[in-house]
Amino acid sequence: MNRSRKLIAGLGVAATGYVLAAGIVAFAVPADAPLRGDPASDANTDIHGHAHVDADQAEQLTGPFGAHGDRHPQAPRFETAAEGQTERRRRSMSALSGHFRAVSATLLSDAGGEEMLQTHADALAALGRDIDLLFAEVSAAPEGEKGALPAIWQAPERFAQYTAAFSAESARFAQTVRDGGDMVNGLHDLRYYCVACHADFRQR
Ligand code: HEC
Repeated sequence: MNRSRKLIAGLGVAATGYVLAAGIVAFAVPADAPLRGDPASDANTDIHGHAHVDADQAEQLTGPFGAHGDRHPQAPRFETAAEGQTERRRRSMSALSGHFRAVSATLLSDAGGEEMLQTHADALAALGRDIDLLFAEVSAAPEGEKGALPAIWQAPERFAQYTAAFSAESARFAQTVRDGGDMVNGLHDLRYYCVACHADFRQR
């Protein structure tokens, strides 16, 4: 490898690290929780529901592309395990949704992206395999508020049927993609398990 290629490779690694670090910071912020004990306690919430602070209070991050202020600072910590779990559960659900919709956009348009279908399907299967871990702590939403219903922890055996069924179906879908099978119907079948669990265990 010549020097300039090494430099470019090194820059690539550094840039990836920087983007990852910035990503972790950005994603660590709860969508609607106040930023406790933070200089940015006057955080605003934009139309997407993300907390953000004014530019002069942004945390400065440095890296190969210069210094940049992060206006979505990290939450100092979550007060309780249930709060942390609720945040992690919602973010993981959003990740499931992102992979699901990326697949459907590929299948339902002629914009390409077939080379990434397996990546998204495998991510759905990996997240699906461990979906029960998102409910390990009792962390129901307060009564009448959006979120997880107490029935999850009151009827654990019934709920386990829903998580197990989703694990199995998401694994089946990944295999369908691997086999070049009927992905449109496979995705449709998988969606049933999202919808059924939401209908029975989620307050909207
Ligand atoms: C075994 C049950 C179950 C399955 C399966 C399931 N979900 Fe969820 N989902 C929930 C529960 C419960 C909540 C509410 C979590 C909370 O607010 O604490 C939720 C919340 C969500 C949210 C809102 C996240 C947020 O930021 O508030 C999205 C989006 C979502 N699910 C998408 C999906 C998609 C897409 C699938 C299928 C690919 C899926 N879910 C499968 C139980 C499930």
